[in-house]
Amino acid sequence: MERSRLEALLDAAAAAASASWSPYSRFPVGAALECADGTVVTGTNVENRSYGLTICAERSAVCTAVGRGSRDIRAVAVFCGAVDGPVPPCGACRQVLTEFCPPATPVIYAGRDRARAVVTTLGELLPSDSLHDFGRR
Ligand code: THU
Repeated sequence: MERSRLEALLDAAAAAASASWSPYSRFPVGAALECADGTVVTGTNVENRSYGLTICAERSAVCTAVGRGSRDIRAVAVFCGAVDGPVPPCGACRQVLTEFCPPATPVIYAGRDRARAVVTTLGELLPSDSLHDFGRR
């Protein structure tokens, strides 16, 4: 996928971060997913005063996409403007993304300094993904 398309997805992730509810961490994260039909679905992190109930931006976006009937995700972007350096998806989100994205799915992630954005694949972020095809037997 062209870099410009991934950067447009990163813009959508940055916009989504502005809706973040993150008063405890002050770490607003936005995620954007490009679905197979070309639509872009976004999500943001939603924290809770019972901290463990927090949902990350990426998982929030996945739930929205699947709820709309979009189960094929073609690209992922993650943005957090609270820090300069790139913010990659956490381990739990990597696992959840693998349910709907093949290992070759491009992932772009960045912090405030977009020049340092990283482009990789979900397979690079979660190698040796166990039971990848389990739900598709
Ligand atoms: N967070 C995400 O939304 N995505 C990640 O991949 C990393 C962490 C959120 C969870 C929490 O609200 C805040 O960032 C600090 O961990």
